[in-house]
Amino acid sequence: MQSVPLTGEYAVEDVSEIASPSLLVFQQRLASNIRQMVEIAGDASRLTPHCKTHKIAEIVKLLIEQGVTSHKCATIAEAEMLASAGASRVLLAYNPVGPNINRVVQLLQTFPAVKFSVTCDHILPLQQLSAAVTGAQQQVEVLLDINCGMHRTGVAPGEAALELYKQIHASPGINAGGLHVYDGHNHQADLEQRRQAVDEIWQSTSALRQQLLAAGLPCPRYVAGGTGTFPLYAEVDPQIELSPGTPVFYDAGYTRMFPDLPFQPAAVLLTRVVSRPSADTLTLDVGNKAVAADPPAGARLYFPALPEAQEIIHSEEHLVLRTPAVCDLEPGTALVAVPMHICPTSALHQQVHVIRDGAVAASWDVTARNRCLTI
Ligand SMILES: Cc1ncc(COP(=O)(O)O)c(C=O)c1O
Repeated sequence: MQSVPLTGEYAVEDVSEIASPSLLVFQQRLASNIRQMVEIAGDASRLTPHCKTHKIAEIVKLLIEQGVTSHKCATIAEAEMLASAGASRVLLAYNPVGPNINRVVQLLQTFPAVKFSVTCDHILPLQQLSAAVTGAQQQVEVLLDINCGMHRTGVAPGEAALELYKQIHASPGINAGGLHVYDGHNHQADLEQRRQAVDEIWQSTSALRQQLLAAGLPCPRYVAGGTGTFPLYAEVDPQIELSPGTPVFYDAGYTRMFPDLPFQPAAVLLTRVVSRPSADTLTLDVGNKAVAADPPAGARLYFPALPEAQEIIHSEEHLVLRTPAVCDLEPGTALVAVPMHICPTSALHQQVHVIRDGAVAASWDVTARNRCLTI
């Protein structure tokens, strides 16, 4: 088997026992990404990183070792994974609805030492959550979710936001926790343009915050930003909690999108050539069940050993690449591929292989890829 492609920045001495496709996590890179994220934040206590990127308890523990004890998530399973791994604060950035309302109550009951929070942008889930937590003699913190231009969830700063925040404060069993401001639409490659967008969000949301305080309402937290913007929020005000998710693993998409950021992809796919349909095409075992089908077909992976290769067919278990010239890679050859979008890719893998000093050192379960753990 050819070993050339697994030299270089993603060198692994021996991959003969690693089945493909699988996700490899290069631990030194992971550690360096975590260090740089903390450094950019200025202080570990300012971070509330989103666990959606990794979903792995061991990574939560590594973050906690660096002083990052507050974490964000999108599902009840992620919240449970975070609490079990030792996080002291867990923010579920979601309106809990349907059975998830009682699952939040179960989280509160199961992990009394953990401070759980959720976000809210509508009166109905707020009323239902309030009834459920008071019925169970519990309390939960609720942050108002702000729509700062992404138009996915949230209430725009203004009168409706003020009114809903008053309702949050007045609801039994609910502690008004401040504002949640996620600006996942801010993908400007130009740092100054991104900075300007962040400044505009800060102006409108701090005006709202002042209104809330002037109305006598507590507004303790302001949680903001993703990977591209958290360094900018870090500079704006020391009270802002920063919530990037992707830096731990990083990916080829953000590498291209944010040239100013120092992170490097730490989680990559191991794939093998399974077929050679023609002299300039090769078929790999990295179908869309192993790498996120986001972005659209044609640009889902970057191959350091084949930088010019084009993705021409992507199906469930296969990826066909066309190379610019005749290619001599035979079936069985192992290659490394950097995902464009790592968060939905990690969710496709039950375990990751952890590579330390060029060898497999451990396997970690991607625990919170499941929708339900015990709660
Ligand atoms: C609510 C919320 N906060 C934080 C993040 C982390 O953002 P990023 O992936 O840019 O680091 C995400 C990512 O989707 C998110 O949805």
